[in-house]
Amino acid sequence: MKSPKEKIGERFQQETKYDPERMDGHTLDWSRQPKPFKDYKAPLAIVPLPEPDLTGDPHLWQLLYSRRSRREYDAGRSLTTEKLSALFWAAQGITARYGEVLFRTAPSAGGLYPVETYLLVRMVEGLEQGIYHFRPQAFDLEFLQKGDLARDLSEAALGQQLVMAAQVTFIWTAVVERSRWKYRQRAYRYIYLDAGHIGENLYLAAGALGLGCCAIGAFYDDKVNTIIGVDGIEEAAIYMATVGWPQE
Ligand SMILES: Cc1cc2nc3c(=O)[nH]c(=O)nc-3n(C[C@H](O)[C@H](O)[C@H](O)COP(=O)(O)O)c2cc1C
Repeated sequence: MKSPKEKIGERFQQETKYDPERMDGHTLDWSRQPKPFKDYKAPLAIVPLPEPDLTGDPHLWQLLYSRRSRREYDAGRSLTTEKLSALFWAAQGITARYGEVLFRTAPSAGGLYPVETYLLVRMVEGLEQGIYHFRPQAFDLEFLQKGDLARDLSEAALGQQLVMAAQVTFIWTAVVERSRWKYRQRAYRYIYLDAGHIGENLYLAAGALGLGCCAIGAFYDDKVNTIIGVDGIEEAAIYMATVGWPQE
């Protein structure tokens, strides 16, 4: 039996500590800064997203008060692309530009934005079922894979049924080097914090639109990585969330 200090979680926390006695003067190599955005070379299609539908209850205090994880959805009702746009915009939308850096609705350590968003579409008006990749810089979707993959993703999420009924499931990955380039091993802490901010933004936006949302942290990592086609090392699935019309 390993002592608790040798386990990976404890090692991760200890070895990524900042310690004033052990700061080693790491400098940044700007010529090796990774690209802040991901574009596919040959997606099946590029789907422009409409103006976000930001109507609904805008009262933040009420939204915070009523936020709950909702797992029961009205599976037969479609989502509009305007509402989908609002969800993307709230989670990862670009709100300001300073030089090269495109600031977003959710904060990110060092403004490096290592989190990418994929979407499993089960029922959205005007969108084929399948897997899409969101491009915040263009505010559109790259269509990567056709088909009803809700059952596969549900199985990858340890059989959780909510994925089968939700209109869409967000799948967030981290492109690790974007953050590791600057923060080295401490990057792994920041990546998960970034994903948490994005997740909460999605919860609140879903609430404002009358939709239900549920975070999913329980999944077989490599099954999800395979469904969206990432290697699980340099880019790996870290978090998911379902969104759908709540069951009355
Ligand atoms: C990191 C994280 C992972 C979670 N994973 C799951 C999950 O896999 N399945 C699920 O049904 N709920 C999941 N949840 C939702 C929690 O169960 C839920 O937030 C908690 O029970 C509190 O309920 P509330 O969100 O309604 O306040 C997750 C929440 C977080 C923050």
